[in-house]
Amino acid sequence: MTTIQIDRRLPEEFFATALRADALAGLTATPKSLPPKWFYDERGSELFDKITLLDEYYPTRAEREILAAAAGQIAAQTGAATLAELGSGSGDKTRLLLDALAAAGTLRRYVPVDVSEAALAVAATRMTERYQDLAVHAVLSDFTAHLGLPGDPGRRLVVFLGGTIGNLLPAERAEFLARVRAELRSGDALLLGTDLVKDPAVLVAAYDDAAGVTAEFNKNMLRVLNAELGADFDVDQFEHVAVWNAEAEWIEMRLRSLADQTIHVPGIDRTVRFAAGEEMRTEISAKFRREGLAAELAAAGLAMRSWWTDAGGRFGLSLSVPA
Ligand code: AVJ
Repeated sequence: MTTIQIDRRLPEEFFATALRADALAGLTATPKSLPPKWFYDERGSELFDKITLLDEYYPTRAEREILAAAAGQIAAQTGAATLAELGSGSGDKTRLLLDALAAAGTLRRYVPVDVSEAALAVAATRMTERYQDLAVHAVLSDFTAHLGLPGDPGRRLVVFLGGTIGNLLPAERAEFLARVRAELRSGDALLLGTDLVKDPAVLVAAYDDAAGVTAEFNKNMLRVLNAELGADFDVDQFEHVAVWNAEAEWIEMRLRSLADQTIHVPGIDRTVRFAAGEEMRTEISAKFRREGLAAELAAAGLAMRSWWTDAGGRFGLSLSVPA
């Protein structure tokens, strides 16, 4: 028998309140910036799925290659009864892990954690269809604020895939890792996917593809502001920019205004001016090195126990335990 349970741990009006706060802070700052979480309405999620299929966007394929090779070792090393997945994702990479834990005979429970109830429902249903006797305990929460892992018995494996940790600024990353560490018990583990520093031309191409899908994805944030805050952005008056910041070792996505323009944003009661050529940051996607990542984990009280990369050395997967 399979069971599905959903814990709702998002405050009332979470999205509207958070978007307004982010838009007010980000559009009135110098330079302007908005956090990447606002890419992902339905259209943005579809565009991201398209990105993962692009020739230039290697991280999804590289991480899948690692998981296909290492899932058995991960299952053996963790003996996990609970697989808790932050950002419940598209599912195919999760299945590699669930298959390995099921084959090892330890799997009892899948805990997808996501801010999207729709994403949770898809993840939960898909997994109960595939695994008999799997209990699904979905958690609706903003895991950058708190994970809210259920206190189930048995060892837990928390997985955070895709390199999404790279969207956090270094200080936010430190805080996030410390929060994960605080929720882990002895015997639990964290499996973390991180994109790696490499040839800047390869990195920039991954975030500025020839077909323009990433450009559309970037501009989708303006459409979200139009839909949710009644703003009047003309998306054709902005262009997509992706640059490698060599010092910080992250890709930065920006939207560059093509003209002097005034935007009305009724949802935050503001009028916002963009000068021609002005750039607004919409995402950082940090790239890692093994040693630097191990140091960040250690600072959060986590010890890296295993490290895998794809054959091309483009992407890294680390398994860490409470130190
Ligand atoms: C989903 C956050 C891992 O940073 O590579 C893809 C998002 N942005 N192309 C990334 C993204 C532009 C992606 N993550």
